[in-house]
Parts: sequence; structure tokens; C-alpha cells
Amino acid sequence: MYVESADAPKRKPVTVPKLRAMKGRGEKIVVLTCYDASFAAHVEAAGVDVALVGDSLGMVVQGNSSTLPVTLDQMVYHASLVARGLSATLQIVDLPFMQFRDAATALAAAARLMAEGRAAMVKLEGGAEWTCEVIAALVAHDVPVCAHLGLTPQSVHKMGGYRMQGKSDAAASRLLDQARAVERAGAELLVLESVPAALAGEITRELSIPTIGIGAGPQCDGQVLVCYDMLGITPGRRPKFSKDFLAGRGSIREAFAAYAEDVRAGRFPGPEQIGG
Ligand code: KIV
Repeated sequence: MYVESADAPKRKPVTVPKLRAMKGRGEKIVVLTCYDASFAAHVEAAGVDVALVGDSLGMVVQGNSSTLPVTLDQMVYHASLVARGLSATLQIVDLPFMQFRDAATALAAAARLMAEGRAAMVKLEGGAEWTCEVIAALVAHDVPVCAHLGLTPQSVHKMGGYRMQGKSDAAASRLLDQARAVERAGAELLVLESVPAALAGEITRELSIPTIGIGAGPQCDGQVLVCYDMLGITPGRRPKFSKDFLAGRGSIREAFAAYAEDVRAGRFPGPEQIGG
């Protein structure tokens, strides 16, 4: 069991308003997914800004072929584990499939993720009109929301696979409209997954809330990776937009710290990752 040493440097807590201030200052936001207390302690010690308890755990932890089987109980459980490893790092937790289908369901789910799971913010996928109504209801009840556009894994069957979104002019303009709509609805943060780098850059410049990219190029206000992918734990081929940060390093903490340093210095994503 990992125990934090008493002389570990203390950081000021990352808060929801601080994320927007970081965008204002041009400071990159470093995000990593996290699913348990030991990984969370390393995320914390490496100075990562945000730990995302993503429903990607359905794939990388549970071994499912999609995120759809993940339940609210499971998200609450994993969030509560991660919370025990964090102190300054902000915790965001995914609302799983169908748990934000209407405002009442989303409010009940968010209440559990925040009270039992200690989430500071919840994330939900999509930017349709009904989704924006749900975002507005959450925000009206003081639940900070992170929206997620582009490749939204909960829509895998509708999309016909995990592929880049927003490639045609029409699709790009739809995505830009949705990005504006989630910001208007009150979202505080926006994850852009697998969208062309130029489009992610345009959305990032247009919005006042920070964008966090994954497979979306270097112009986003921050970056997120699935921790199992960037440690080379996930079996099979690593996504092109990811990178093995453990290769050539001695520990998971060093790998997380190297990722944080590269994101903050604008070195990640680099030319090898862009376009994938
Ligand atoms: O579930 C997840 O881990 C995510 C990230 C890949 C952004 O949504």
C-alpha cells in the first residue's frame, strides 16, 4: 500500500474557478483518468491538475468492449476510492450511460457522485438541445459540469465505431454550434475527443471555458489521457494520439510527472500524436 511521505510538497487545491483562470493565463490543464486510491496517490504526487474517474473504466478495468455496461453504483464506488488518494487534485466523475437522460435522473445521479463519490464536477456526453437542458438543470443546482463532444463513446453504436468526428464542413459546424450551446447552458469545462486539431483550436479560441483534448491536437487548453493507455497497461495497440510515458522511466509517478511536464511545456501532443 502506498503511503504519502510527510515531506511531500503541498499544493494549493485545484478548484473549478481556477480552471477558467488557468485558461485566462494560458496555463495548460493536465488531466489523467484514474480509477482507484493507489493510482490517485500517484496522480496527486505528480502534480496533475484533474483526476477524471472516466467510464472508460468499463473498458480498461472491466474488460468490456464499450462503456455502456458501467453502472452508477460502480462509478460511485470508483469515485470514492479515487477521492481517498487525492487532496489538491480536482476530481471529475463521469455520469454513466442513461444516468443523465433527463434532469431528475441526472440530479439524483450527480448527488450520489458528489456526496458519496466526492466529485467536484460531473461529466456528461453530447451537446443536443435536451443535453443542454440537463446541463442547465445541474448548474442551477450548483453541480459543476464538464461537457464532452466529438467522439462520445456512449454513442458508439450510433456512430458505428470509435472514429474521428467533425471531419466534414457540416459536421465541424455542428460541433462548433454544440460547443457554444454547452457553454451557454453553463458547462465549466469541455472535453473534445478525436476531432481535427484545427477544429479543436477554433472551438478553444471561441469559448471562454477551457477545452481539454484527447486526440484533438495541441491547441486545446489542456490534455487528458487514459492512464492505462499512457502506461502501456491496456492490451492491444495503443491509440495513435496517446504515448507510452512509462517507457524508459522507473516508476508510474515519474511517468505521470513527465506527462504533466510535457503538457505544460506544450510538448504533448507532439507531431507523432497529431492527426490520429
Ligand atoms: O471515460 C473517459 O475516460 C473519458 C476520457 C477518455 C475523456 O471520457
